Amino acid sequence: MKIIGVGCGPGLLTEQALQALKKARFCYGSERAIGLARPFLPKNCTVRSIDDFKKLPALPEDAVLLSTGDPMLAGLGYLRGEVIPGISSLQIAAARLHIPLSRIAVVVAHGRGHEQGMQDTIDELKREKIVFLLADPKFSIDELYGRLAALALPLQIAVCEDLAYPEERIVVGDIASPPKPESALYSLVIGRF
Ligand SMILES: C[S@@+](CC[C@H](N)C(=O)[O-])C[C@H]1O[C@@H](n2cnc3c(N)ncnc32)[C@H](O)[C@@H]1O
Repeated sequence: MKIIGVGCGPGLLTEQALQALKKARFCYGSERAIGLARPFLPKNCTVRSIDDFKKLPALPEDAVLLSTGDPMLAGLGYLRGEVIPGISSLQIAAARLHIPLSRIAVVVAHGRGHEQGMQDTIDELKREKIVFLLADPKFSIDELYGRLAALALPLQIAVCEDLAYPEERIVVGDIASPPKPESALYSLVIGRF
């Protein structure tokens, strides 16, 4: 199985990813990943949206699995198979805000990991790292902001929405007046940058 990073938005497919997509015969992915890859898939490719993530390890050997952004950033790269890297939301956010990746710690607050995500964010900020936080739409940003305010650190916060899409929106504020996401697809950059 090939696990292909399709980038976190349009226009971010690598040459390697394009070559693999062109040869695909059975392709699986989220609706968003399929949307990004569809124009490059051959007409005879069977395309299926993932209905159950537990079934993924049993996909056929010749299947192609699409992963938004980069498969190794909270993506499908944990599955067996060759991973073709993609351009991640982390990379796009760092580029837009001119922050070297070496200053960034990645925190994932997805699914059941919300509390852990809050704790990890605070720990990394105390270490003077800049946090890139991947959050799902159910993550309580108000609760996070409340906890960050209690740290009394001079923090900047960037809400990075729909990165690489035409509707991309990046708003930078501080902890006294933190920006709020308006889209379900967002990540946060928090720290001194
Ligand atoms: C399951 S993770 C997958 C991340 C993906 N593998 C990547 O490399 O960007 C999904 C989370 O990544 C962030 N994300 C992915 N694409 C994004 C985009 N285009 N703009 C902003 N955040 C994005 C959001 O926090 C989203 O909830």
